[in-house]
Amino acid sequence: MVQEHEPGTPGEDTEPTATRRTADEAESSRASRGWWDRNADEYQEEHGAFLGDDRFIWGPEGLDEAEAGLLGPVEALKGRDVLEVGAGAAQCARWLAAQGARPVALDLSHRQLRHARRIDAAAAAALASAGATGAADVVGSRASGADDAAGVALVQADATALPFRDGSFDLACSAYGAVPFVAEPVRVMREVRRVLRPGGRWVFSVTHPIRWAFPDEPGPEGLSISASYFDRTPYVEQDESGRAVYVEHHRTLGDRVRDVVAGGFRLVDLVEPEWPAWNHQEWGGWSPLRGNLIPGTAIFVCERD
Ligand SMILES: C[S@@+](CC[C@H](N)C(=O)[O-])C[C@H]1O[C@@H](n2cnc3c(N)ncnc32)[C@H](O)[C@@H]1O
Repeated sequence: MVQEHEPGTPGEDTEPTATRRTADEAESSRASRGWWDRNADEYQEEHGAFLGDDRFIWGPEGLDEAEAGLLGPVEALKGRDVLEVGAGAAQCARWLAAQGARPVALDLSHRQLRHARRIDAAAAAALASAGATGAADVVGSRASGADDAAGVALVQADATALPFRDGSFDLACSAYGAVPFVAEPVRVMREVRRVLRPGGRWVFSVTHPIRWAFPDEPGPEGLSISASYFDRTPYVEQDESGRAVYVEHHRTLGDRVRDVVAGGFRLVDLVEPEWPAWNHQEWGGWSPLRGNLIPGTAIFVCERD
């Protein structure tokens, strides 16, 4: 069920300041929910066209699951129960539904999920005006708490406490959702393992850890090391009272592998997408200039026994 609630308000009137300091799980979760609720409209406006309403893009490089097949062969997705963690507007889940899977899109942010509903409503209206019957598919309705009134099933929840029974899904995925924003990613790993069936696959993408050593700038200034790769202190934007309004957590590559293993998974691949010649976009600190020199995204392909 998508819960109604007021977006967070702190820090709206004054510019937050960026710093590096500790932020625990509760503070990180609160900050993420407020930030994504306040910024979902702008995010979807800026990146929605690149993501596509029903494509599965792993990150700013534009690696497309339709070609990458990291969840397995596309033909094998039919009939599979799939959880998308930190789904945003559920673009990936919509692509999975189109392949015949039964996705559930979970996100912390009510406003992001509203965009999922907006996209589904537009697709249903387009189908209706084309004279089609049945409108959008209803998918994933067997998962507990799913809002299956129309379009992709949506659930508002925190990835560190998944509201599903053990063994509810065959596959789980996340394109930059949740994992970079939580203080204790091993909790997400354990929760995802719990809700997966034996043999299930969990694939997630995050900012490539090497990026943390460089300024988050798309131009030449983003090519000189400015911080220790080994400094795990979170990046925090805080309001004038010191309250975090945005938090991102740095883990080294080794930390991420250890989180995967501690969560009960086997790591079967680590994909570092190369910047393709067709992609001329800049997305924050991601750009063709930097993408041609250093990796920007790390995708972890994991399996549970
Ligand atoms: C960068 S977006 C990725 C969404 C989508 N894959 C895309 O590319 O737009 C990150 C998403 O993770 C969600 N998120 C952040 N922390 C979360 C948490 N602890 N649990 C669930 N979702 C979370 C945010 O609300 C946001 O929608």
